[in-house]
Parts: sequence; structure tokens; C-alpha cells
Amino acid sequence: AEKSAFPNVANTDYADAQLREAAQKALKQVQGELGKTYLPFIDGEYVSTSQTVNSVNPSNPEDVIGTLGLIDIELADLAIQAAKTAFGSWRRTPASERSAILRNAAEIMERRRNELVAWMLLEVGKPMRECDGEVSEAIDFCRYYADEMERLAGGHNYDLAGENNRYHYQPRGITLVISPWNFPFAIPTGMTVASLVAGNPTLLKPAEVSSVIAAKLAEILIEAGIPKGVFQFVPGKGSTVGAHMVKHRDINTIVFTGSQEVGCQIFRDAAILQPGQKHLKRVIAEMGGKNGLIIDESADLDQAVAGVVQSAFGYSGQKCSACSRAIAIESVYDAFVSRLVEAVRSLNVGDAAKPSTQVGPVIDAKAQQRIREYIAKGKEESSVAIEMPSPEPGYFVGPVVFADVKPDDTIAQEEIFGPVLAVIKVKDFDAALEVANGTNYALTGGLYSRTPSHIDRAMAEFEVGNLYINRGITGAIVSRQPFGGFKLSGVGSKAGGPDYVLQFLEPRTITENI
Ligand code: NAD
Ligand code: ALA
Repeated sequence: AEKSAFPNVANTDYADAQLREAAQKALKQVQGELGKTYLPFIDGEYVSTSQTVNSVNPSNPEDVIGTLGLIDIELADLAIQAAKTAFGSWRRTPASERSAILRNAAEIMERRRNELVAWMLLEVGKPMRECDGEVSEAIDFCRYYADEMERLAGGHNYDLAGENNRYHYQPRGITLVISPWNFPFAIPTGMTVASLVAGNPTLLKPAEVSSVIAAKLAEILIEAGIPKGVFQFVPGKGSTVGAHMVKHRDINTIVFTGSQEVGCQIFRDAAILQPGQKHLKRVIAEMGGKNGLIIDESADLDQAVAGVVQSAFGYSGQKCSACSRAIAIESVYDAFVSRLVEAVRSLNVGDAAKPSTQVGPVIDAKAQQRIREYIAKGKEESSVAIEMPSPEPGYFVGPVVFADVKPDDTIAQEEIFGPVLAVIKVKDFDAALEVANGTNYALTGGLYSRTPSHIDRAMAEFEVGNLYINRGITGAIVSRQPFGGFKLSGVGSKAGGPDYVLQFLEPRTITENI
């Protein structure tokens, strides 16, 4: 088997008291810098806007993290025009120079790691360790895609006697990045730098509720040396200005991560040829999941319970990779559920800034309401094994485990995107695989088992983009676990994998008869 040679950056070791202190100091410092205004960055300048929105701390919504200037249609068009102008020189900039800018960005991120962690923790309510992992992922994306572009820039040579055949890649044109709030730093970084390094002028439209941390990413890319008009930061409302940019005739590639509903809408909008448009748009869409973990009769239950709890309740279940269905075989079902309930009972739910917190808030009041509606639905459909209290005043939802959930129940089929786990009982391993595959999604999945034949069957038959055996199902690492799903989870592309940058390139073949 091929061994990954890519050197992933290490996460912070918070067991080291000095590193812990430095992180707390950065958190205090950032708490003193809340409430500033962040503006769009268009054609090399920060521009003021008529519309703004406040981004608040979900652990304590009275804290305004920052005020964002939102672009309108006119500014969106200006940005696209500036990108068009910038394309000429960016496409001719050697891949090695473009890669060098990504490596500069990675260095800046390393230097600002504690500060970036603090902004993220406060803006999206993600506990420190997970924010730290996210900064590592962003650094890895920069370095990995820089290496990848240098590899691809070599092209291929298929020469024969009397005939030269050269195969090379050129950039596609202007890219629009549309990012979600749940990985507010790593995901926009990955999508943006992959597009940039391939030679495409790139516009970043972050999710409204995580625009401050996205503004920090913009600062970093600017400091790293991205030329004017090549990278532009265009915060704005998705359903209006986002949709307008998707439909704009001069956009070539749309790279989206977010919900299935919006992903499908973008596919529809991008498919319509606009007057004067001379190309077909490419949509790279990474969407949701309804991820299952199977626990068979031979599983190590201590390991399984720990893995399920971490996968289901890490970042309050708001990861596309989160486990939302635990599928346990009859003979271990009761033991698994009772141990699971005890493990959930011991989770600390509270302000993400408290070092002891394991489960923070959910992102906003709308999400809190939606999750509560699913919990009410779950109570009609099945039985509550445990429901933890929700602290005040933030947007908290205490973790909930439902037992005896039927495979077709709403809470076993729809992406809830919160700390809600459905446990399903099945009679044997065949039934477990059938239930695991019985959704519209195919993102992550896992199996706890010590039975080689079950492990082999899961590898062959469990239909997900990222399958994990005897471990949790979140936390993919760049180049070690290229990440992404298929079916209604996405187009099948893999972030942090060897095919990712290719999606931002157009291959050409040139034959010379000699
Ligand atoms: P969302 O779909 O609500 O929003 C994502 C982005 O789309 C935001 O920037 C939003 O402003 C924009 N948007 C909304 N309507 C638009 C429109 N009509 N046209 C253009 N842009 C529009 O998703 P979210 O709530 O930010 O993120 C959570 C979702 O993301 C979950 O479903 C989760 O599973 C998914 N997700 C998937 C992955 C993956 O890799 N597969 C990773 C993270 C999150
Ligand atoms: N890449 C993220 C994970 O694996 C979504 O959890």
C-alpha cells in the first residue's frame, strides 16, 4: 500500500501548561477586540456597504463578535469584473509562484493559530480543541494543494517518433466559493486556495453567521501576497446576492459546501445558460449526511460507546460527518444503549469558552428551533433514552439519544444537524448493512467489529465516501483521509485528496507533427 508522505501539521498539545496559557491569553485578547466592522475586499480595496449584519457569539448572543458589511448586486458585479481583469496575469503566473503564496498563508496561520482558534470559538461556539484541529486542517490544505499544483503543472508527455503529444492543464476561469458556517475556517480555506493555486481568480462568499472568521482568512490571503482582483472577499446574503453570482454569466466554477437543499438549487441555477455565456459552469457541491455507525456482536463496547459519543456530539452534532444513527445488533443492543446513556450523562454542556466544555451551543436560534422540532418529532416516533438539559442563555440544545428508532422514522432519515442520535436495533449484520445504506446520503459511516468477515463486507458494501472501521467517523485529515461523499451527499469529490485541484483545471492536448 502507498504510504502518505505529506507532513501534516501537529495540533496544539493542550496538556502542556504553557501552551494552554498561551491559548487562554489569546482568547482574552480576542475578547477585547470584539465588535469591530469587517468590510468586503473588492479589486484590492476594502469597500463600505449600505447593508450590514452582526455576527454574535452563540454561547452568549449578547456578545457581538463583529459587524459585517454585506455586498449588494452592484458590488457583486464589480467584483466579477475585477476578477475578469485579474485573470490575464494570474493564469500566466507560474504554478510555483502561486504555490509559494499558499505556503506563505500557511505560515501566517501557524503564527496566528491561537488567535484564529479564539475567533472561531467565539463566533461559532466550537470548543477549543476542535477549533485547533480546524486551523491545522486549513494549514494542511494550503501546503497540500500547493504541492498538488506543482505536481499537476508538469502535465504529461505522450510523444512518439515524429509526433509530440503534450497534455497540460490550464485554469478554468472565475470561481465562486460558497462556504458553510460549521467549519468556518478550514472549509473556506480549502475551497479557496485550491481554486487560486490552479490559476483561477476566486471570490469567497462565506456563510453569514461565520463571516468574521472568514474575514480573518481574507486578511491572511492578502498578507500572503495574492494580487489585486485575484482573491476577493464578498460576504453577502446567500439567497439573494449568492444566487445572483451563481447565475452570473462570467462565473466558470462554483464550489459549494452546505445543505442539500441549497446545493441542489445551485445546480439548477448554474445549469441555465445566460445570454452571452460561452461556457458550461462546473458545480462542485459537498452536502449533508445521515451517517450511521454499526455496532456488531463482536464490537469492543467501550471503544464503540466512546466513538459514537464523540462522533455524534462533537461540535454539538453540527458536522456533516457526524454520526446521527447508531445501528446495533440485537444481542448487544441493551448493553450498548445503557453504556451509551451513562456516557452521554457525563458530558459537560456549556459555553464553548469554558475549558471543561465538551458540547457547546448550536449555531443560532433558528437551528435551535429546528432541532427542537426534530426532538418533538422523535418523541412521537420512538422513546427517549436520555435528554440532557439545555443551559441558558445561549443557543443550547442538550444532547438527546432516542432508542428503538425505526429505520424509516423521520429522525432516522433527515439530517438534523444537532446533538440528536437515533439508535436502531437490527437482528443481524445483513440487516445492519441494509439500514446503514437505507438513506439518500453517502458521506461517512463506520463499523465497530472484531469479525473479519463483517469488516470485509462493510468495506465492500457500506456505501459511503468515507468509511471508518473501529474508530469515530469525524475528523478526516488532509491527504490521509481525503474527504467527501456521493449520492445526495455530493458530487464525489474529495477535499484533501489527489483529484481535488484537478476540478479547477481544464485539460488540453497539443499534438505537433514533426
Ligand atoms: P447552507 O446550505 O444553509 O448555506 C451554505 C452557504 O450557501 C452559505 O454561504 C449560504 O449563504 C449560501 N446560500 C444559501 N442560499 C443560497 C443560494 N440560493 N444560492 C447561493 N448560495 C446560497 O448550509 P449551512 O447551514 O451553512 O451548513 C450546514 C450544511 O452543510 C449541512 O447540511 C452540512 O451537512 C453541510 N456540510 C457538508 C460538508 C461536506 O463536506 N459534505 C461539510 C460541511 C458542511
Ligand atoms: N472533514 C470533516 C470531518 O471529517 C468534515 O469531520
